[in-house]
Amino acid sequence: MKAYLEEIAAQIKDMEPVEAIAYLAELFPGQITFSTSFGWEDQVITDMIFKNDLPVKVFTLETGRLFPETYYVWNRTLEIYQKPIHAYHPDAIALEELVLKKGPNSFYESVENRKQCCNIRKIVPLKRALAGNKCWVTGIRAEQSLNRTDMANLEWDEQNQLLKFHPIFFWTLDEVKAYIRKNNIVYNTLHDKGFPSIGCAPCTRAVREGEDFRAGRWWWEDQSKKECGLHATK
Ligand code: ADX
Ligand code: SF4
Repeated sequence: MKAYLEEIAAQIKDMEPVEAIAYLAELFPGQITFSTSFGWEDQVITDMIFKNDLPVKVFTLETGRLFPETYYVWNRTLEIYQKPIHAYHPDAIALEELVLKKGPNSFYESVENRKQCCNIRKIVPLKRALAGNKCWVTGIRAEQSLNRTDMANLEWDEQNQLLKFHPIFFWTLDEVKAYIRKNNIVYNTLHDKGFPSIGCAPCTRAVREGEDFRAGRWWWEDQSKKECGLHATK
């Protein structure tokens, strides 16, 4: 697996993000998928995929707890590009049981409860979204958190048994913003209100000037526990 990964990594090393996505789409026809949370990194990649008609399936994990602003961006994106975005919802029975037993906001009570909610609303639907694919494209950037600086832009995802590619991994936030401006892309207005990273509404808040990118995610928890399991860290 390592040699295979290195071979592909060498091929895409000097490519622009859009070229690299196109290359991987050709390598894995019908088996490459992009996950969007409608944050600005994801809007950049969505634009690359849709504008260039790249054969990459775009999906989102519809947790049911997203911000109104996120639904607005989602809908505008559909209107602008006229391309499908697949939504994966949590299993209705599992969610009904959770809410019956623990109420709608159990995630504030313990890390265990929070992980259970993320598991039902994100991880299980993610497994369905990734099934049958060989390559998963994300909007992760190295700058976003300490955990992420030591990742590579192309990696083997042991948990999901596929390649994971982050096309704008090396971009700075300024580069992301410049692309958005230049191409006049619709983006989540929460980014202008102190939200660098946007997840579910009850679990995301604004950060202060100078605070870490991810300080507003699950802010009541320990720094070390703040990944939801979508992106396992080593
Ligand atoms: S998270 O692990 O903290 O939730 P983050 O918000 O940094 O992730 O986003 C990183 C990447 O994960 C996004 O670029 C996107 O590819 C994917 N992602 C995060 N949340 C979702 C979601 N609700 N639906 C689909 N993809 C998501
Ligand atoms: Fe549940 Fe919060 Fe995780 Fe969203 S981020 S799935 S609301 S615990």
